[in-house]
Amino acid sequence: MSELQVVCSEQCIRSAVERLACEIRSDYQDKNPLLIGVLKGVFVFMADLVRSLNMPLEVEFVRLSSYGYGRTESSGDVKVIHGLESGIEGRHVLVVEDIVDEGRTLDHLLRYLNEQKPASLKVCALFNKPSRRQVPVNIDYLGLTIPNVFVVGCGLDYDEKFRYFPDLRCLDD
Ligand code: IMP
Ligand code: MG
Repeated sequence: MSELQVVCSEQCIRSAVERLACEIRSDYQDKNPLLIGVLKGVFVFMADLVRSLNMPLEVEFVRLSSYGYGRTESSGDVKVIHGLESGIEGRHVLVVEDIVDEGRTLDHLLRYLNEQKPASLKVCALFNKPSRRQVPVNIDYLGLTIPNVFVVGCGLDYDEKFRYFPDLRCLDD
């Protein structure tokens, strides 16, 4: 599938991750932040970000789902499939997302996390598709804004395929 058009190169993504790590490191120095990644798509970005951060922090993962099998549109019905294993009360929480599209997933997750009274709650997303937003969400640390196309690679999938591309590619013709 190497003919899929590249939307963001590996180098471009690496620079964005390094810039995000610099911003986050200066804001969270000595705060032992808890990074909460949204599975599955975030696993590549989370690994790159944590290595770039190179500072004391903890990592957790949650899994949410709103996509049916083989679809490129959200069903709009977000569910927490796997929640947190330990409490976040009093913690400095940074949600780490691969991509924000309609905003429903993030909105749902932020409500779920806010109920548990973290000391602070911010969002870091590698990719943003603002033209598709249905629910307003604030992204505190944003990597790259991309056009309104369905993308794969860098952990992102279509029907569980193409997560392995090191760059971001467009699935649409
Ligand atoms: P939202 O609720 O529409 O913002 O959806 C966010 C989630 O949908 C992301 O965390 C991804 O898992 C998935 N998603 C949204 N857009 C894309 C895309 O272009 N490619 C692959 N997954 C996507
Ligand atoms: Mg995601």
